Amino acid sequence: MMRKMNLKKMAAEKAVEYVEDGMRVGLGTGSTAYWAIKRIGERVREGMTIQAVATSKASEKLAAEEGIPLVPFHQLDGLDLTIDGADEVNPELSLIKGGGGALLREKIVAYHSKQLIIIADEHKVVNTLGAFPLPVEIIPFAHEWTLGSLEKLGCSPQLRTDNDQLYVTDNGNYIADCRFGEIADPAKLHQQLLYIPGVVDNGLFIGMADRAVIADSDGTVKIME
Ligand code: 5RP
Repeated sequence: MMRKMNLKKMAAEKAVEYVEDGMRVGLGTGSTAYWAIKRIGERVREGMTIQAVATSKASEKLAAEEGIPLVPFHQLDGLDLTIDGADEVNPELSLIKGGGGALLREKIVAYHSKQLIIIADEHKVVNTLGAFPLPVEIIPFAHEWTLGSLEKLGCSPQLRTDNDQLYVTDNGNYIADCRFGEIADPAKLHQQLLYIPGVVDNGLFIGMADRAVIADSDGTVKIME
């Protein structure tokens, strides 16, 4: 059995093979995206020319350390490819993301990418989304009422904390982790969540991923499309 870290690295390095010279690339966030950024850094140092944007302050810092050229958003009218992790992937390539708290920036960057490649180990592949609590980014103002509205949708929202402090996203917002159980209709829930004032966005990514590169513990990598 390969260790989880190695699986993440395997999936990430396979996905980086899709990055071509001259591309505009979105850099994901999390412990799997970490390996993609490291590999892209190596390829840049070997001479590959790309322009990149990051989906979080943490990924931006890592990319800068790796010598990956980061460009301001106004200099690009979109991206060719984004490589990012996920917390759950279903057979239709619908996703739950946001375990690392970067869902809003990740969704904006993914939306403006011609291609979104998801990288994950096999443990992230599920038949039905929902075992992983759905992260919902909410603004701090009146967040108690927003939590109440989330609860009415049938979940038990938990405000995310970090070291006993309220977790604050790169955008200055909170994350409510919402246990819905099995999500039978992700598209419907997505709409219901966006309808609530105070909800900025949520971790459901539907119809956004083009392929998922999944590393199995038997040492193989499979592509879901
Ligand atoms: C961050 C994310 C991550 O991609 C997701 O949580 C997976 O993280 P990891 O690769 O560390 O398991 O959505 O907001």
